[in-house]
Amino acid sequence: MILVTGGAGFIGANFVLDWLAQSDEQVINLDALTYAGNRENLASLSGDERHIFVQGDIADSALVSSLLAQHQPRAIINFAAESHVDRSIHGPEDFIQTNIVGTFRLLEAVRGYWSNLQDEAKQNFRFLHVSTDEVYGSLAKDDPAFTETHRYEPNSPYSASKAASDHLVRAYHHTYGLPVLTTNCSNNYGPFHFPEKLIPLMIVNALAGKPLPVYGDGQQIRDWLYVKDHCSAIRRVLEAGCVGEVYNIGGWNEKPNIDIVHTVCDILDELRPLSDDHSATSTYRNLITYVTDRPGHDRRYAIDASKIERDLGWKPAETFDTGIRKTVQWYLENQGWVANVQSGSYREWVEKNYTGRAA
Ligand code: NAD
Ligand code: DAU
Repeated sequence: MILVTGGAGFIGANFVLDWLAQSDEQVINLDALTYAGNRENLASLSGDERHIFVQGDIADSALVSSLLAQHQPRAIINFAAESHVDRSIHGPEDFIQTNIVGTFRLLEAVRGYWSNLQDEAKQNFRFLHVSTDEVYGSLAKDDPAFTETHRYEPNSPYSASKAASDHLVRAYHHTYGLPVLTTNCSNNYGPFHFPEKLIPLMIVNALAGKPLPVYGDGQQIRDWLYVKDHCSAIRRVLEAGCVGEVYNIGGWNEKPNIDIVHTVCDILDELRPLSDDHSATSTYRNLITYVTDRPGHDRRYAIDASKIERDLGWKPAETFDTGIRKTVQWYLENQGWVANVQSGSYREWVEKNYTGRAA
């Protein structure tokens, strides 16, 4: 079996669902169920014995050690993290605790478990750490995309905490020989994406007739990858990645934020027109509102995903056009999920991040 951490969050839940759709290998899912963790994401696995959910913290060494001893997983995939840049600006401490201290404690528990495994199990064991392209910092317009050897220049408390976790993972391989793999991926989007992030926020605000808040000039560039492509890349790295190596994962899909917002509006205009006599004056684009920029906002990320394609034969299956259409469709079909995640704490976050953000 495998142990997944953070498997009730956006990418982790998609990973667990995809894994069990393709294999009968059991998954232990360790998740603290922070505001971002949601068991509803895993509702389709209810009663499925292949999925063992444990609510707990990766920083709880005793819990992690006992899970490892009891279940003897052959691999760990570490998704658990605080993941939202804006929240890291308002309150960095949780990011230091989970992303740095949590990863450290997890590594320590895993090192203890792994060092006592017997020959073949020890050799075949893998610790796969899921990280981000944000650790590499920000690119100028014409800079080449990030390769795996790009120097680390994290700019937000979030990316600095992820960078620290990547360094710890690297050190545990270099010093103790722990068989690690690290993946650095670009911006994901797709089902179960919490509506604090750009794409789901734009969809749910548009459907509610609320302003679509674009930071600064909207010309910041991100590389976008459909979440199921990220999941397939992680499976491939786990299966065939070279121990100690880093693999960049991306969609070859660089786009300015404002183009993303326009695309979401245009798909909604088509699938859920604002009025029957849908015309240029009744488009979701009218909801776009430019607001004060994110402090320290990285201008551009771009991933060079040649290594994973060349060495492991992985490429994304979705284009941005197909992926974004599926995503908007998913939100339209899952309005109950959307309503349930917009709890009191979500409303407090929206208030904190957007109120008073002058245009
Ligand atoms: P998310 O915020 O949606 O989910 C994080 C999950 O981790 C939640 O279920 C939460 O309950 C859980 N968690 C948080 N702290 C924990 C702790 N101390 N112990 C156990 N569980 C804990 O995040 P996501 O977008 O699914 O990202 C998953 C991973 O992928 C993160 O490590 C993130 O840095 C990385 N990543 C995300 C993206 C992206 O675009 N979302 C891109 C590249 C890499
Ligand atoms: O690059 C990978 C990273 O992508 C992951 O490591 C992070 O976990 C993930 O959250 C994401 O970080 P970003 O900061 O790029 O994602 P976010 O969706 O928050 O923002 C995307 C862009 O949209 C960014 O330039 C900020 C902008 N934005 C975001 C929000 C929430 C807006 O213009 N308005 C908004 O309301």
